[in-house]
Amino acid sequence: MTAVRHLGLLTGGGDCPGLNSVIRAVTRRAIQAGLAVTGIRNGWKGAIEGETVGLNLQSVSGILPKGGTILGTSRTNPYKRPEDVARLRETVKRLELDALIAVGGEDTLGVATKLAREGLQIVGIPKTIDNDLAMTDYTFGFDTAVNIAMEAIDRLHTTAESHHRIMVAEVMGRQAGWIATCAGIAGGADVILIPEEPIDLDAICKLIKTRHARGKDFSIVVVAEGARFKENASVVTEEKRDEFGHTRLGGIGHLLGSLIEQQTGYETRVTVLGHLQRGGSPTAFDRVLGTRFGIKAVELVLEGRFGFMVSLQGNKIVAVPLEQGTGSLKTVDMGLYQIAKIFFG
Ligand code: F6P
Repeated sequence: MTAVRHLGLLTGGGDCPGLNSVIRAVTRRAIQAGLAVTGIRNGWKGAIEGETVGLNLQSVSGILPKGGTILGTSRTNPYKRPEDVARLRETVKRLELDALIAVGGEDTLGVATKLAREGLQIVGIPKTIDNDLAMTDYTFGFDTAVNIAMEAIDRLHTTAESHHRIMVAEVMGRQAGWIATCAGIAGGADVILIPEEPIDLDAICKLIKTRHARGKDFSIVVVAEGARFKENASVVTEEKRDEFGHTRLGGIGHLLGSLIEQQTGYETRVTVLGHLQRGGSPTAFDRVLGTRFGIKAVELVLEGRFGFMVSLQGNKIVAVPLEQGTGSLKTVDMGLYQIAKIFFG
């Protein structure tokens, strides 16, 4: 193990609110401990290309409430091209970075897991609006996305009620229905559809008709972008895969909206929330979680505990082996989904 004097920090994958809280916390704590900090631009892409920026008290001042990431991000996967892994190692060597902190979701931290296995001194911090990383109760970014979606559902309620319409709201989350479930419960959705349970069109239409028959002549349907009909794959807006093999999901809302309208005869409109869920200022919860994650990650570096990811378990921030965090996807707790179902129809 090399003693750490110089720390590299990068943010990779889809951005999310709270990343700047982490950057600020890591920088402040590292400087307090006497370390130099270099920001790596645009995730693994910057590590390959050697694009960096110095981080100091000045550069992280005022960034706490800002969405996005001041370091930039990318979905670059160095393991797509063996020469890129070599270039990444060369950057680490040339800059004399003794350790790296990588902030990301399953893809960015998947790369971190491999690099750690190959001997790089690295610590991971889990982020994603999708909340689908294993071994942590929450990732930061998720709470903000849920609050944005909840507010959208509140707004859809008033227009749905005025026009006696069905409103379908499509939310993000990839193959996990966390945003749909939590925003749906918080916003009082009448139906919530998630990738974890195939869509049963007849059952949904029956619920909506029964609801309308009892005088509630408007309905809110929240659908996760990854939700699908039995036997069908998730609907995609683009087949082309990114460097980690993901297609771009989206389109289930419009498909579902037209089917519901056909089958129920009720006028239906569709809203796709898209990247609104990822932009803007983080909630207090995400700022606090990001700050705690950032501080803990630096503590791990100072203790020489590499190959770990920081994680929230209960109300404690702990360290778990990176491969445990990235080995499987954390899908929706079906007990929580059962609670949501009590309010369907
Ligand atoms: O993983 C975060 C996420 O926002 C997913 O919910 C969504 O499917 C995807 O990223 C969208 O990716 P992009 O920003 O590349 O369109």
